[in-house]
Amino acid sequence: MNAIKNITLTGIIGLVLLAGLCGMQDLSAQTVWLDELDLSTATQGYGVPVKNKSLDGNTMTIAGQTFERGFATHAVSSLLVLTEGKANAFTAKVGLDDEMKGHEPAVEFEIYGDGNKLWSSGVMHLGDSAKECSVALTGIKKVELVVTDGGNGNYYDHADWVDAKFETTGVTTLKTYNPIASEPYILTPKPSDKPRLTGAKVFGVRPGSPFQFLVTATGDRPMEFSAQKLPKGLKLNPQTGIITGKLHEKRTYEVTLSAKNAKGKAERKLRIVCGDQIALTPPMGWNSWNCFAQEVSAEKVKSAADAMAKSGLINHGWTYINIDDFWNNHRDSEDASLRGELRDANGKIVPNKRFEDMKGLADYVHGLGLKIGLYSSPGPWSCGGCAGSFGFEELDAETYAEWGFDYLKYDWCSYGNVIDGLPDNDPYKVSSLSYNGGGELNTAMKPFKLMGDYLREQPRDIVFSVCQYGMSDVWKWGGSVGGNCWRTTNDITDTWVSVKNIALDQDKSAPYAKPGNWNDPDMLVVGHVGWGNTHPSKLKPDEQYLHISLWSLFAAPLLIGCDMEKLDDFTLNLLTNDEVIDVNQDPLGKQATCIQTIGDLRIYVKELEDGSRAVGFCNFGAEIVDAQYSDFEKLGIKGNVTVRDLWRQKDIAEIDTNTQKLAIKVPAHGVLLYKFNSGKY
Ligand code: GLA
Repeated sequence: MNAIKNITLTGIIGLVLLAGLCGMQDLSAQTVWLDELDLSTATQGYGVPVKNKSLDGNTMTIAGQTFERGFATHAVSSLLVLTEGKANAFTAKVGLDDEMKGHEPAVEFEIYGDGNKLWSSGVMHLGDSAKECSVALTGIKKVELVVTDGGNGNYYDHADWVDAKFETTGVTTLKTYNPIASEPYILTPKPSDKPRLTGAKVFGVRPGSPFQFLVTATGDRPMEFSAQKLPKGLKLNPQTGIITGKLHEKRTYEVTLSAKNAKGKAERKLRIVCGDQIALTPPMGWNSWNCFAQEVSAEKVKSAADAMAKSGLINHGWTYINIDDFWNNHRDSEDASLRGELRDANGKIVPNKRFEDMKGLADYVHGLGLKIGLYSSPGPWSCGGCAGSFGFEELDAETYAEWGFDYLKYDWCSYGNVIDGLPDNDPYKVSSLSYNGGGELNTAMKPFKLMGDYLREQPRDIVFSVCQYGMSDVWKWGGSVGGNCWRTTNDITDTWVSVKNIALDQDKSAPYAKPGNWNDPDMLVVGHVGWGNTHPSKLKPDEQYLHISLWSLFAAPLLIGCDMEKLDDFTLNLLTNDEVIDVNQDPLGKQATCIQTIGDLRIYVKELEDGSRAVGFCNFGAEIVDAQYSDFEKLGIKGNVTVRDLWRQKDIAEIDTNTQKLAIKVPAHGVLLYKFNSGKY
């Protein structure tokens, strides 16, 4: 990147000589424009860094004033520049871009030098005229340009650094950088060719509901499955491993599953609990939203289900294939495939042209040994503007059951309008999501209780996923309205800021997680994601290991959000580690919390059913953590223990926690996921 423009070498020499003659050293100072640097190393909360245009590609405009040069970004944003003592000053103007008119973004621009805050804009709003900043940088080695979310979340925060430039000493180039490693590396060992049973160790079903459970195992095919003490009413297909049938008695059954192939045989226990509660371990599967968004179709859903089977993910316990928004008709889309009657003459919901045969689709997915999920809203419209269930809750619950669906995500969306008294069917007044906490607690609970009760009356088990972004402390009452899981957060994106902020916010809801009731910090953002326009996840490899480790420690629903036909080796390595998945699926159903914080290192502990503990040494900082750890008692770990590295599936140490220390080396934005076992593993 040539930082100096329009100045020839002889010109420079001339200037330096002249400066020397006049005794004016600073005549050699040069200007390096920010937009001349590589800005792609910046991290930001949404979109990608843009040069000399706004985030959406328009002329950069702050409070009516236009600018030709600059760096457009989105909160929360950070750009690191190595100045190495060669820059004397940085000047710029900052503000929110007018392209977000009609919304209420707020941000704060900040400049750090070697970790110290040098300047801050104060909170700025849309319409504030560009603020000038000028900071001295003499002697400073590292400059960080930051845009915070201004304290109101990062919605619509299109932020501009305009006319931004460094004054440097002499001819020099400045470099931007990102301290987080970007080379993917594989940790999960290849599965053995011998059979190894995987997936959930406990399964809940209601009396009288159709039973479907797939016995999953890794190892060479063909494989033969069998079960001892399978209760009457159930049968196991020895070739596919699918158990079907019906149970009528409320009871717990201990079954021994076996898998046999040419290389050997494996056994494992499965506890079948016939009772009121389902989803006894967090649901695992795939959802269409983070990848296809409004482009979803039955063909794409089928392909995702096929890929779930073909890629081998199915052998690790991944089960649900969930259709998100846009499977039915839209109020005013220009896309003909989304237009048509919303409901038929009897009020029955009508799928759009892309989903001609819902029952056929459900049968297809079931035939693979998988399950299928659907999406609706308690309001008149879904978040994307398709028909919601308001006023038709009972009929919709019946319809989903009749089609054979196993899972419903029920998304608050336009229900805010119902509360605000706007006409139920007003097509244009579907306000932005109502983040007012849902008003009264009763108001917040009401629509979910209504649908939860109707789902419960259906002749099949339907997992109920409550989606209202964590309003009104939903974790305290989500189970009482029939929810099996509930979102604790706004929508995730594939950015470090998003994953980090969500992760740091989970402890408060942790005590409420238990079998049948899970906190949901939103879907996974690994693989090719992109809401209709996919790209490889912007998370760095270590950030992805941290993301999967944390979601496993959190006992969160694990819903893959990527294009299942573009699974690469690194992503498969993240999603097929059975020892990591076992942490998530542990039958005790506890959610990890952060027990200790040491600088940027947060240590999460999850109690497991066998008395051992899964521990995540999670590094949220930009520097590697290299330490000797000894606070075992704080983590509830005593005596002689075996330490197992779950990602590498390897015992790495035997230590006496009273006298010995454990060496930990945690990559920046990375994780060590260990299991501490008393006694031999
Ligand atoms: C909301 C939800 C998302 C997704 C979209 C669909 O934003 O939080 O997970 O379901 O609606 O429109």
